[in-house]
Parts: sequence; C-alpha cells; structure tokens
Amino acid sequence: MEPEDIGDELAEVLIGESQLRDRVRQLAAAIDADYDEPPLFVVVLKGAVMFLADLARDVPQSVEMDFMAVSSYGYGTQSSGVVRILKDLDLDIRGRHVLLVEDIIDSGLTLSWLLRNLSARGPASLEVCALLRKRDALQVDVDIRYVGFDIPNAFVVGYGLDHAEKYRNLRCIATLAPERLT
Ligand code: PRP
Repeated sequence: MEPEDIGDELAEVLIGESQLRDRVRQLAAAIDADYDEPPLFVVVLKGAVMFLADLARDVPQSVEMDFMAVSSYGYGTQSSGVVRILKDLDLDIRGRHVLLVEDIIDSGLTLSWLLRNLSARGPASLEVCALLRKRDALQVDVDIRYVGFDIPNAFVVGYGLDHAEKYRNLRCIATLAPERLT
C-alpha cells in the first residue's frame, strides 16, 4: 500500500520507502560487521515482521530466526509494562548470541520486560535492534545497540506498525490524520 492509496487518512509521511530501505541496509551491514556469524534474530510479533523481512535478507549470511508473541496487560494505547507471553520461542537460546528485533521502542516497558525474560534464559549475549525509537517517551533506561531512526513522540503507522490492525502493509512510516486516532 502506497501513501497515495490512503491519502486523506495520513497526516504526514515521516520516513519514505527509499529512506527505510537505505537505513535497513546500513543496519544489516553493521550487524554483519559486528558478529563473526549472524546472531539468532528473535522477533516480537507482529509489528517487526516487515523490518525483519528486509533486515534478514540484507545480511549476506544465513540468519536463524525465532518468534515471540506478547500482549501487554492493561487498557488503551499505552503499554503497561506487564507482559504476557502468547507464543514463546521454539528454540532454546541458552549459550546463543541473540539479537532482539523490534519495530518501535515507545515507553520501553515492553523491551525492558523482554530483556529481563530473555536474559534469564542464559544467552551468550543479548542485544537489541529497533527500527524506531521515541526518545521523549522512554520511561526506562534501556541499552539499544542498533537504532534505525529516532522519531518524535507521535502515533506512527506503516511498515508493520498498525492502528487497530490497519496500515501494517503501508510501504512508509507515517502519522495518521487526527480524526483517525479517535
Ligand atoms: C508495540 C511494539 C513494542 C511495543 C512498544 O507492540 O512492537 O513491542 O509496542 O511499546 P513500549 O515501548 O511502550 O512498551 P504492540 O503492542 O503495538 O503490538 P504489535 O507489534 O502486534 O502491533
């Protein structure tokens, strides 16, 4: 889906398709340079799937991947930091080099919980690669090794990110028109 397909539903394109493409390539090159062999990509559904698909294909070696689905307890659009595992990893990560791939770090509460949970499983190393980070919204201090873009504190959709499950297949990252957010 292109921004023109839903023109009046969007407020602004924040990051265009080619800008995303270039940055994801750079992140893959950085990961490839930092590790002798690619780490196990651990992906949190669903928002990170587009990012993962491009990032993994830009790595010039075979990448193993595994998936988790989590849900935040609580109401509304704010993350509560209390997380329930809906689908756990299939693989045992003990002794593995793990890279947690996330689409967006907002409050950081989900990430903070995930890092505690995954660390307890005894990986050889655990790092984070996040496409987007909202600097102003961070409520906890989390160390993120690879960040695609720092963005303003606005509700964004596209490239995997949704609003009520819509817009995930939009090719760019955009903000929604205010009337769409109600
Ligand atoms: C998003 C995102 C992170 C979390 C970030 O997931 O993928 O996991 O929110 O928010 P936080 O930093 O405030 O904790 P979401 O719950 O929207 O699920 P989805 O990926 O399935 O859309």
